[in-house]
Amino acid sequence: MCGIVAYIGHQKAFDIIIKGLKRLEYRGYDSAGVALQNNSSLNLYKKKGKVADLVSFIGKKDTNGSVGIGHTRWATHGPPNDANAHPHVSGHKKFALVHNGIIENYSVLKKELIQRGHQFNSDTDTEVLIHLIEEIHTNSKRKLTLFEAVRIALSEVIGAYAIVVINKENPNELIAARKSSPLVVGIGDGEFFLASDATPMVEFTKNVVYLEDGEIAQLNLDSGLKIKTIENQEKTPYIQELEMQLEALEKGGYDHFMLKEIYEQPQSIHDSMRGRIRSSKGLVSLGGIKDYEEKIVNAKRLIFVACGTSWHAGLVGEYLFEELARIPVEVEYASEFRYRNPVINEDDVLIAISQSGETADTLAAIKLAKEKGATIVGICNVVGSSISRESHCGSYTHAGPEIGVASTKAFTAQVTVLTLMALMIGKKKGTISTQRFNRLLVDLESIPEKVESTLKLDKSVKEISNIYKDSSNALYLGRGINFPVALEGALKLKEISYIHAEGYPAAEMKHGPIALIDEEMPVFVIATKDASYEKVVSNIQEVKARKGKVIAVVTKGDREVKEIADYVIEIPSTDDLLVPLLATIPFQLLSYHIAVMRECNVDQPRNLAKSVTVE
Ligand code: M6R
Repeated sequence: MCGIVAYIGHQKAFDIIIKGLKRLEYRGYDSAGVALQNNSSLNLYKKKGKVADLVSFIGKKDTNGSVGIGHTRWATHGPPNDANAHPHVSGHKKFALVHNGIIENYSVLKKELIQRGHQFNSDTDTEVLIHLIEEIHTNSKRKLTLFEAVRIALSEVIGAYAIVVINKENPNELIAARKSSPLVVGIGDGEFFLASDATPMVEFTKNVVYLEDGEIAQLNLDSGLKIKTIENQEKTPYIQELEMQLEALEKGGYDHFMLKEIYEQPQSIHDSMRGRIRSSKGLVSLGGIKDYEEKIVNAKRLIFVACGTSWHAGLVGEYLFEELARIPVEVEYASEFRYRNPVINEDDVLIAISQSGETADTLAAIKLAKEKGATIVGICNVVGSSISRESHCGSYTHAGPEIGVASTKAFTAQVTVLTLMALMIGKKKGTISTQRFNRLLVDLESIPEKVESTLKLDKSVKEISNIYKDSSNALYLGRGINFPVALEGALKLKEISYIHAEGYPAAEMKHGPIALIDEEMPVFVIATKDASYEKVVSNIQEVKARKGKVIAVVTKGDREVKEIADYVIEIPSTDDLLVPLLATIPFQLLSYHIAVMRECNVDQPRNLAKSVTVE
């Protein structure tokens, strides 16, 4: 979704902003723009398309100045075009603003402003906000600073926002604020950076402040960083050290971030477990939930809330927690849960799963459950993200930055953390035998190595991809804990290759989807050696009887499926509960290769955003 980058200091703002916007491209967008303050003028450039289109449109025009704001827009109010692109300027053209989020009461505000003589040039909610700021700044009974005017304007606004405002007449200052959309301040030597996440500033500073919801910041080159709440209370900035490394944000020789991230999984899974598991001592400990361990152990039920891939991880979590900790689990789409008036009790524990930690629906679900007294556990990848801060406790997945829009290493890291959590709670509850517990720890520790050998199947997965790259439809089937793997496989294929794909519990096929099967239809089946193996074999027979093409992910050494399937992909053997961590890898590779062969934009698929900060 929208990305913000702003700079004030002694360097050329344009260069820093453009580089930063390119780094935020992974968030998904359809237009871009910058406003640069130079010698009391404000140069504004906006263009539909990519940041590269903006740069070539600007060409040799004036890009001087050491203060500026930049934006990549993911259209909500009005189509992607030059006029709707940010920044938006006030009527008197003194102020410009970039915004991420949605101003829900914008049409009421717009009507009032039109009555007061304001004229608008775009369809956006954002333009309304900068006009409101101007109106308050100009027509207030007492003389207001821009900081005050922004603060008062925001108190009239309903919705979500991260904003940065620039003033043509003040090269010393930027004003920023956030509510439900992320914004990070970077503090350099005589300079400040602002961005939707820390990636645009990582090579300039390690000192960052994550603005809290309802905070407004003044970044002034003379007086420094001042933070207040929208209600006008002074806050002391909490400066944190950034752990992110620049290399993690680059492709490192891979053609795409997605491929790099798929290949990083042996390391990222290892990092998710680092310091949390020791099989030789029979130990699993997640420090971030220790203080709430009793609460989770005694929970009457667990409610997982998430969206997309993270929701699939939640489904895997359901099997893990019910099996190992014997706690009833409900897995909810955050977007449905938040609007359903759900029954939530103080004995409930809500586990929110999110790579970005900024997904608007998941965040809203947390707030709702919190109000009703539930305990909130966050499982996030991005350190300092909104969900991690809204949760009572939680565990980071430590997968490192995930830039490809299609989630890969974040999913396996989420499943790893859920496994550790289920083991920790199960042990404390006494619902898992010591023998099983110890065996699972040993198996879990060997997963990175097994992922490594699964990745070696890439060549044969690529050959299979070549055979099915022109399919119009695909089915993914799995049972038990591998049913979510089927859903995730189907999601990966559709989101990056635009092939229609559906995931089903294998036995459900005969209740409808079987009608789709003909000799053109590839059916990807997880048929590893587990309790449902024989049943899945029968499901494969049903597909073959209707001339469908079966590509099965099987346990190394399998014979039975090999005889009936068109192709098999043999993954290493492991405990049934850990199979998702391996079985998902061939599907990630398959989607990747098919998308490349179909010449799709792998890392930034059409219409999608990495971090969905609007509902
Ligand atoms: O950042 P989150 O994990 O909360 O994001 C949730 C979904 O938007 C995300 O998993 C999405 O489905 C992925 N692009 C799928 O690959």
